[in-house]
Amino acid sequence: MSKKIILTGDRPTGKLHLGHYVGSLENRLKLQEEEDTEMFIMIADQQALTDNADNPQKIIESVTEVALDYLAIGIDPNKTTIFLQSQIPQLPELMMYYMNLVSVSRLQRNPTVKQELKSKNFGESIPTGFFTYPISQAADITAFGATHVPVGEDQKPMIEQTREIVRDFNRIYNKEVLVEPEIVLPPKKQGRLVGIDGNGKMSKSLNNGIYLSDSPKEIQDKIMKMYTDPNHIRIEDPGQVEGNVVFTYLDIFDPNKEEVESLKEHYRRGGLGDVKLKRRLNDIMQDMLRPIRERREELAKDKEAIYKMLEEGSKKAEKVAAKTLAEVKEAMGINYFKK
Ligand code: TRP
Repeated sequence: MSKKIILTGDRPTGKLHLGHYVGSLENRLKLQEEEDTEMFIMIADQQALTDNADNPQKIIESVTEVALDYLAIGIDPNKTTIFLQSQIPQLPELMMYYMNLVSVSRLQRNPTVKQELKSKNFGESIPTGFFTYPISQAADITAFGATHVPVGEDQKPMIEQTREIVRDFNRIYNKEVLVEPEIVLPPKKQGRLVGIDGNGKMSKSLNNGIYLSDSPKEIQDKIMKMYTDPNHIRIEDPGQVEGNVVFTYLDIFDPNKEEVESLKEHYRRGGLGDVKLKRRLNDIMQDMLRPIRERREELAKDKEAIYKMLEEGSKKAEKVAAKTLAEVKEAMGINYFKK
């Protein structure tokens, strides 16, 4: 089997939450241990700046928060290259050449960009950097020769666009220089973790998340506030399991599936109170998040070490990107002085 190269990343716009954990971080931990697999994890600060130009401080602070989250859950810089997008000058250089292969109307048709443009209310003032970020993302992916890109469903159009760029580039310059990546979607069941309010996915903007760095009290308060069955008023009332966030979480995080099934039956019958269930979930979540939080607090004491790790990862990443860029320029015939 040939080697798998994995490139994935996150926009640093805040700390990571349980939704990130279930949707992608857990999977990365598995991939990290796979044989014949090399993984790059990029903190996409440049991409985050494309719609946060006026608030760089938020992005800068989130860079270390996200790095801490990675390390706390067990991403190991000795096995996985963690790097910072803005420190790899070859990425925007690649983007420069790819931009010539993508029409404005093709970008306008990108469903994720379309939807984001609507929700962000840029009006007539769409930042060019934001509009073109799918091309920058194609540079991120191809610079490392990524064969697999594990991302959420919303990133499908980005991978599709990257594949088009790869095909066009290789055809026009008549060489198999770039690698066409495959998307790796999270397993259906874990697609998107619902927020504590039951309103769609967990997200910072909806303020319905449990963070990897939350204190024991924050975790408990959030679980006690969780959306259950609004018609389950008295303990004796029959309750509904479907759409009940506490059960959704027990299904995912409770290792004792049999007990969860019998709790569901009991709840449906009536006679099982929400508080009892929430206490059970709280115990599970506290046990799961405690070691992560403690590790995070320890690591957070030494910011210098975090930057050092990112610097080393970025140096390693730059070498790989430089090789790809050299091949790209050679294929295009613009390697004037190295002929
Ligand atoms: N767009 C991704 C997100 O919003 C972040 C990202 C940037 C990314 N470049 C990437 C993901 C390359 C995978 C591959 O989460």
